[in-house]
Amino acid sequence: MTNLAQDIFSLNCEKSGVSRLTLTDFRNYQFLRICPTANIIIVFGENGSGKTNILEAISLLTPGRGLRNAKLADIKRIFFDPDDEYKPEKISLFNWAISAEIYQGNDDFKIGTAVERNIKNVLTDDDEDTRYFERRIVKINENKVSSQAELGKYISAIWLTPQMDRLFRGGSQPRRSFLDRLVFAFDNEHAKRLLNFEHYYKEWYKLIRIGKNDNLWLSGLEENMASLGVAIAAARREQIARLNAFIESRPDDVFPNVVLELNGTVEKMLDTLPAVDVEDKYKQLLFSQRKNVLLHESADGINRTDFKVYYKKKRMPAELCSTGEQKSLLISIILAQAKCQALFKGFAPILLLDEVVAHLDDEKREALLLKIKELGTQAWITTTNPELFSSLTGQAQFLKVENNQIFETII
Ligand SMILES: Nc1ncnc2c1ncn2[C@@H]1O[C@H](COP(=O)(O)OP(=O)(O)OP(=O)(O)O)[C@@H](O)[C@H]1O
Ligand SMILES: [Mg+2]
Repeated sequence: MTNLAQDIFSLNCEKSGVSRLTLTDFRNYQFLRICPTANIIIVFGENGSGKTNILEAISLLTPGRGLRNAKLADIKRIFFDPDDEYKPEKISLFNWAISAEIYQGNDDFKIGTAVERNIKNVLTDDDEDTRYFERRIVKINENKVSSQAELGKYISAIWLTPQMDRLFRGGSQPRRSFLDRLVFAFDNEHAKRLLNFEHYYKEWYKLIRIGKNDNLWLSGLEENMASLGVAIAAARREQIARLNAFIESRPDDVFPNVVLELNGTVEKMLDTLPAVDVEDKYKQLLFSQRKNVLLHESADGINRTDFKVYYKKKRMPAELCSTGEQKSLLISIILAQAKCQALFKGFAPILLLDEVVAHLDDEKREALLLKIKELGTQAWITTTNPELFSSLTGQAQFLKVENNQIFETII
């Protein structure tokens, strides 16, 4: 048994995961129910059969917009009606819903999320108009909760998708979101703070753009943003420090060790100044950037922070590493995060691994599966080729996706 496994067992890591998942009118599924019977669930099927959609549904049980960062409207089921020769493509009249029974140690919970359609009467120039608007609702143990961030107390998931193969090469936004999701697991308030910051930032930006020079109003928003921003920056710094220290003390034997670095103005200020001073400086920084907004520039601050990853042994920035290396670096980060959560929070996150073995050689693939098994967490893994997982025969549940349904099979 490795040191890590010993650490985890000695700390009595609790098992957590989904014990029943039900989808209605979600993407290609009119109705789908999955009851996992093993920790590792291999979801396999042809391209376009609906594998990623299942992972996306689980990701939507955590705060945020899920692994596709989808719009509510895109999720509603579109289907084909061959009897209607004029308009065979239809959108379901029903709203989509995802519900799940989940467990954390000996405790069971019911959580769910859905889209709800509401009617609003809007005053127009000469009349009153009825408009429909949709919003996402969240239920925990049958009770509606006001904020999605609440979900973070009951379920935690991290994911790797083929789109993330480009994470190190493109703009900073997806990297920032990736980092923020790692923070959510350790700081339940982080998701709420980010949402509030975004809300104030949009209002501030809009006021400046439309030329509403209400100094009191703008200063109030700057004060709110500075105080939230410093808390956000501090939580990011803490998470990076936690992961770096963890990786340093327990280097992985197969996946490359990484060094993580934050590159953000506010985060850097926290290197040398106490938080209260950084708050003042951030407020001044926002004030001085009002003119940048007029020039259509986004303001510097926690909304521009970048997250850098280095391949430690090679001293190479991730963006210069090969495709397979970049995948391995991401796996390293995800494994370190899962282990950290197991050690410090008492339970590991659910892993959602979409086509994760595509770029891995045989040795790395088997090592990854072994590490997931040791971790004991629930892992949902998609593939077009279940044969690649034959070493898990008898230990994993194999679900074949076909014709918008799933079938349990033996590999
Ligand atoms: N709102 C929707 N309603 C109905 N079908 C949808 C909707 N959104 C996406 N789909 C369809 O769902 C199908 C399954 O998509 P999904 O991404 O889950 O496939 P996959 O099995 O992961 O495929 P691949 O192996 O190519 O990754 C696709 O054909 C897609 O067009
Ligand atoms: Mg897919």
